[in-house]
Amino acid sequence: MSPLRVLTGITTSGTPHLGNYVGAIRPAVRASLAPGAESFYFLADYHALIKVGEPARIQRSTLEIAATWLAAGLDPERVTFYRQSDIPEIPELCWLLTCVTGKGVLNRAHAYKASVDKNTASGHDADTDVTAGLFMYPVLMAADILLFKAHKVPVGRDQIQHIEMARDIAQSFNHLYGEQLVLPEAAIEASVATLPGLDGRKMSKSYDNTIALFAPREQLRKQIAGIVTDSKAPGEAKKCEGSALFEIYQAFANAEETIALRTAYADGIAWGDAKQILFERIDREVAPMRESYEALINDPGKLEDILQSGAVKARRLATPFIATLRQNVGLRNLRSSTDTRAVKPVKAARPSLKQYREKDGFFYFKLVDAHGRLLLQSLGFESPRETAAAIALLQATRSQALLELQTKLQPVEGVSPEEVASALDLLA
Ligand code: TRP
Repeated sequence: MSPLRVLTGITTSGTPHLGNYVGAIRPAVRASLAPGAESFYFLADYHALIKVGEPARIQRSTLEIAATWLAAGLDPERVTFYRQSDIPEIPELCWLLTCVTGKGVLNRAHAYKASVDKNTASGHDADTDVTAGLFMYPVLMAADILLFKAHKVPVGRDQIQHIEMARDIAQSFNHLYGEQLVLPEAAIEASVATLPGLDGRKMSKSYDNTIALFAPREQLRKQIAGIVTDSKAPGEAKKCEGSALFEIYQAFANAEETIALRTAYADGIAWGDAKQILFERIDREVAPMRESYEALINDPGKLEDILQSGAVKARRLATPFIATLRQNVGLRNLRSSTDTRAVKPVKAARPSLKQYREKDGFFYFKLVDAHGRLLLQSLGFESPRETAAAIALLQATRSQALLELQTKLQPVEGVSPEEVASALDLLA
């Protein structure tokens, strides 16, 4: 059995905040230290291009995120830590997968659909500002995962659909080309809390309520002072439930410390004092990492070297695998096989007429296109003979027969007469 392979990507579109640290970075670094797992962490900079059109920001974010993960204790000797755009096999696999992915599947992706719905709701054209990159996002993500045969993919809940799509895409590929791709599973850490931000809503860049992970000490203090509380005066008992300050504290404190703050709340601690306690607690965990973060940020050459070694390590797996996949799909050296007899003539998929009996006792026929989409639907006939006669007429005179059969057909929504006519022309 190959070891359990865990893989996750971090989009390089911002500066890491406390929510990222508690929700993703800290659990991932801990998991990477567990024996028996083989971990892959990468900077998803191709994904960042989908939302960020500022080159300097992509570069800066890549630097900051790489420094953050290393400062948080990720050991690049132990795991495979790389940058997506250093692995040309990823976009190559992305194309192979694109060719087995149904467009309809991508139409249903949440992120794409949200953009379309927003446009429609505001009276714009459905595709306004929607790039093909946003549309293709799930396929690129599938390539990230499938290239390294990952079993488990730790992600937030908003990403579960993407992992399911990666599974479906892998299945389609395997069905067509043989079992090559491993079907991945999402790993959602139930014990990891989502951290509230300054205003009590989930800490997120899109709400502009974040606390930077590696802000200088004094800035951290200032940001913590900005956490929203109620207006209870010193001496008045305070509630832990719904207190963002308390929840953030809990994410850093041990059980004893948490109980102590709970008691202090009941005893009417002043908000200013509670904020001071929170600040000191976070700073205690963050300060040592902040120091190595600063050192790394100021040594981009070292970070670049680490990422380059990561890419070499990753490509040791990716290069031979993509070679196999190319072979599988038929992108082959012409010398490798000259046996054309082995090539089965490809049966072009055609539309077809189907005859069947319904539970109501009547006999029907329908015309479906090569993908099974319904184009024509008959009404019920008394006998199979009548159905057969109608089909024979369609086969003999094609679209001309439609006029004669008019009273025997029911309309099919969304199908144009041209589609029906060209399908009839393609009938075997
Ligand atoms: N889409 C992920 C996010 O926004 C980042 C990502 C890109 C990713 N490729 C991945 C995560 C592959 C897991 C596996 O969070």
